[in-house]
Amino acid sequence: MKNIKGNKVVLVGNGAVGSSFAFSVLNQGLCDEFVIIDLNTEKARGDVMDLNHGLLYAPNPMKIYAGTYADCHDASIVVLCAGAAQKPGETRLDLVSKNMKIFKSIIDEIMTSGFDGIFIVATNPVDILTYATWKFSGLPYDRVIGSGTILDTARFRYLLSEEFNVAPSSVHANIIGEHGDSELAVWSGANIAGISLKDLLKEQPEKEDCMDDIFNRVRHAAYDIIEAKGATYYGVAMGLMRITKAILNNQDVVLTVSAKLDGQYSHDDVYIGVPAVINRNGIRQIIESPLSEEEQQKFDHSVDTLKGIQSSFFN
Ligand code: LAC
Repeated sequence: MKNIKGNKVVLVGNGAVGSSFAFSVLNQGLCDEFVIIDLNTEKARGDVMDLNHGLLYAPNPMKIYAGTYADCHDASIVVLCAGAAQKPGETRLDLVSKNMKIFKSIIDEIMTSGFDGIFIVATNPVDILTYATWKFSGLPYDRVIGSGTILDTARFRYLLSEEFNVAPSSVHANIIGEHGDSELAVWSGANIAGISLKDLLKEQPEKEDCMDDIFNRVRHAAYDIIEAKGATYYGVAMGLMRITKAILNNQDVVLTVSAKLDGQYSHDDVYIGVPAVINRNGIRQIIESPLSEEEQQKFDHSVDTLKGIQSSFFN
């Protein structure tokens, strides 16, 4: 990563997700330079003004401006939120052709700037578009990260935390696989304070019945929110902020992001949601959580779902 100086983050795509991420960057004082790129230059200009007017109350000073792809040349991180978003009744996979074209042109422009940092991809279908970003950019695969199931895991932990009356941060439970309909819950590894969910449910059998409901609410959450307000953006923006913070602060934290498998979980050549250690260099290591036979089968199905789509664009 030859060009990088300091903590410069570039956002490409200033729609609902991108602008929510921008607001979280300001609130958290995440970086010292933040650039917004969008085809709608007036929206970018307006958001930059609006964000700068909040700087007085932000934790750190920050240079915030609207830019062009040339501003990526010395960026530590480029966050990709550009593209069409799901509409009511659409699946994330329905967006693939439209967003694949958009990504090809965006990545070519960014790489022409000499960008040599880390990509974080949020646009759906995020696993496929993260794979595409890796292919189009030619960057090492550990420097191309998708938001993956970071939001699904947050939804899962939130709902379990409500059920067991502890903070979400005290619930250890992951959603892995496609960020989409074929995702799966790793029930076998779920625990609170080291007590497995299985043992907790033995003590509180009345909770057994609502476990399936919790997973279904996680898997259906986006559709539910889109029906209610037209789009989702705050939750995923917080996930993007968390990944950005893990990189800039070199945290070695485990997050369920879309990472490229290279033999892990018996698969390769696919980006998919798995627990991974994230630090200044991107993905340091993929964690292979033990899976039950049923969980492995569901994971295999999720891989096949993604590879089935991927193969029509990359053979
Ligand atoms: C969701 C979008 C980010 O799950 O796919 O809300």
